[in-house]
Amino acid sequence: MSTTTDNWQQVEATARATLGDAIASYIDQCRQSPQPASQLISVLHKVQAQFGYLAPEQLDAVAQLLQVPAAKVAGVASFYHFFRLQPRGRFMINVCLGTACYVKGADRVAQKLMDELGIQWGETTKDGVFTLEGSRCLGTCGLAPVLMIDNEVHPNVTPDQVPVILQKYLDRAKG
Ligand code: FES
Repeated sequence: MSTTTDNWQQVEATARATLGDAIASYIDQCRQSPQPASQLISVLHKVQAQFGYLAPEQLDAVAQLLQVPAAKVAGVASFYHFFRLQPRGRFMINVCLGTACYVKGADRVAQKLMDELGIQWGETTKDGVFTLEGSRCLGTCGLAPVLMIDNEVHPNVTPDQVPVILQKYLDRAKG
């Protein structure tokens, strides 16, 4: 057996251990398809569903097992805002970006959140308290613009209300 084969077996074993059996098996199935790289987004969704976010070692493991360049995997993971590259914060802020909320100023609310928290979409604050995400219509268009923080709905939110809302959760995080 050649040294190259030994190295690959070691890399593959490490990648499988990093992702776990279920995801490794799923990637094995994807590799049977004519274009395994086209399954990349679906694989990354599975990794995020299992681990909560996409850590660098998981991205490397996906690249190895799916046989896709690591730069492509990292590029796709950072391009789409629904992928998180950091652990989830204690509270998940979900800004509705559906049409009704957008026309009522959801973009200004989102910008105020980014300014106050110092993060962009998909990021978590340094203190680990908040993660910011955008979503499609949350189904409460009559209350637009709407924020959800974990399971709590905040209706008719204006940018001025954002610091007050955040403070409530900061107080909870301390308490
Ligand atoms: S568009 Fe925001 S709740 Fe429907």
